[in-house]
Formats: sequence, structure tokens, C-alpha cells
Amino acid sequence: MKVKTIGVLTSGGDAPGMNAAVRAVVRTALSKGMQVKGIIRGYNGLIDDDIVDMNIRSVSDIIHRGGTMLYTARSPRFREEEGIQMAVQTCEKHGIDGIVCIGGDGTFRGARDLSLHGVPCVGVPATIDNDISSTEYTIGFDTAVNTCMEMVDRLRDTAQSHDRCTVVEVMGRGAGYLALHSGVACGATTILVPEIRLDVEKDIIDKILNSQRTGKKHFIVVVAEGVGSVDRLAQQIQSVTGIDSRATVLGHVQRGGTPSVRDRVTASKMGYEAVQLLSQGIGNRVVAEKDGKIVDYDIYDALNMEKDFDEYLHEVANAISN
Ligand code: F6P
Repeated sequence: MKVKTIGVLTSGGDAPGMNAAVRAVVRTALSKGMQVKGIIRGYNGLIDDDIVDMNIRSVSDIIHRGGTMLYTARSPRFREEEGIQMAVQTCEKHGIDGIVCIGGDGTFRGARDLSLHGVPCVGVPATIDNDISSTEYTIGFDTAVNTCMEMVDRLRDTAQSHDRCTVVEVMGRGAGYLALHSGVACGATTILVPEIRLDVEKDIIDKILNSQRTGKKHFIVVVAEGVGSVDRLAQQIQSVTGIDSRATVLGHVQRGGTPSVRDRVTASKMGYEAVQLLSQGIGNRVVAEKDGKIVDYDIYDALNMEKDFDEYLHEVANAISN
């Protein structure tokens, strides 16, 4: 099949570097003589026929911007057959022969469904959570984890000045990558992740008390969102240890900001590779990073892969966080 026109969309939670990926897709496709359509607000744009023509200048001045110029959304309507059918009709109307779908696992499931309905799609992994099983790295993680580090460093300043315990929640409903990496980088006393259940008394409070006995006066506890309430944990720590404790939820500040070098470069490579596949009529694939190289997998296989939690880094954190 000769691929003349491709679409590009961003879907799910935005991630710094999505713009760099869109730019790479548009410029690579144009350089191959293809036309490019920007699909607005993820799969909703396909259902609602919200499509814009992209040219070489449409993606100027975006490589350094966080967020996504194409807007993003989660689309419950696209999970229904009716929504998918409307999306297919929109593709036919605009002559879209294939789509690069930038986002997380939910985005990949949409790409799989659309591929099964005859529109070849290639997924590009972008989420600050780094929780996509088929890839070692997702666009946005490096920027977000550096934001977490900066924020926790600030919390450390005030915790140190007041001899307090700062309990900070970072994003990650089902995955602790942001918590683990920022926790190690900030010298957290304890890091709580959804992958490993810890005992509050033994693993958190006793650890704080042991460190206190060696002269430590301020404490950082980094908690992934999926673990539970930081307010409750801070109260518990304060009531048992007597250490003045405060809870902070970093929230959506972690999703914004200028993408790092790592995110811009990875996004550029992955966007380029996604178009290489689509230009050959190859769909139902996702691009991924493996051992530092860009590879691609069947979407079905990618969605069924499992990602090992970094037990080693968790062990390192435990050994050096006294
Ligand atoms: O998937 C990325 C993510 O940032 C998660 O870490 C977080 O739980 C979720 O999105 C928040 O989503 P929303 O922006 O819809 O509140």
C-alpha cells in the first residue's frame, strides 16, 4: 500500500517531549513526500472530525515546550465500537492511511483497536510515569523526575531548618519509578512505591527513629501516589515519633516544563522511527527503547509484556538512606 497521508495524535496524560515527537513525525513524513494531518485532543479528534493540516512550519518553535500543541484527552467514547467506527470514517474522509499515536498504554490500546479496523497505527511511548512495559524508557520521565528532584530539594531546605519530616507525594498510581528515582536522588530516608508493600511501623517509623538516634534531625519520605494518603502518613509519623511532620502533594507541576535533552532526543528518534514504519505500510506496532536502541514490537505483544521493578535500585536506596 502506498502511504500518502498520515495522522499524528497525542493522547492520555501529557508529557514533556510530546511536542518534540510531533515535530519529528511531521518533519520526517514531509521529507518523505507524505502529507500530515494533526488530530486534535487524541482519539476524540478522530471521532469529532477535528483535524488540521500540518506543514513544515506548523511544528516550528515547539521542540522546547512542555505540554502538547495537539492537545490531549482520554477518550471513553473511543472504547465503544461506535466511536471507533466514527474514527474510521474520519480517516477515510481525510485520506489518512496511518496514524502515529503518542501516549501511554491506553493510547496503545486505541492504536491496536484502530489497526484492527483497518487503519495502521504506530505507538510512541510518552508518559512521565515510565510505566509502559514494552520499553525501558518513556518520553517525559527524565524531565518529570528532575522536576521532582528540584521540588524535594526545596522541601529539604525547609525541613532541615525546622527539624521536620517532609512527606512528599509524587505521581504514579501504579508505578513507583518517579518515587524511586527522585527518592534516591534526594537522599530520602524512606521511599514508598506501589510495587513493594512496606510496614508503617517497622519500615518507616522505626527507620526514622533509628536515624534520629544517630543524630539525624530532618527526614524526607517520598511516596508514590498509588500508595496512599501522605496526610495520614505525616500525622502517623508525628504522633508516634513526636517529629513535626508536613505533607506535600507535588501534583501536576510534575507534568509541565521544558523537556530535558534526554526527552527531546528520545522523542525525535522515536517519532522518526514511527514514520519509517508507517511509510512502509507497517502498522499495529509500537516503538520502544531497549538497551539504549530504538526497536519496535507488535502492539499486542507489547501490551502483554511485563516490566520488572528495579529491585536493585530499591536495595541501593535502602542501604544508603540512613
Ligand atoms: O499517567 C500520567 C499521570 O500523570 C499519572 O502519574 C497520574 O496518576 C495521572 O496521570 C493523573 O491524571 P490526570 O491528569 O487526569 O489527573
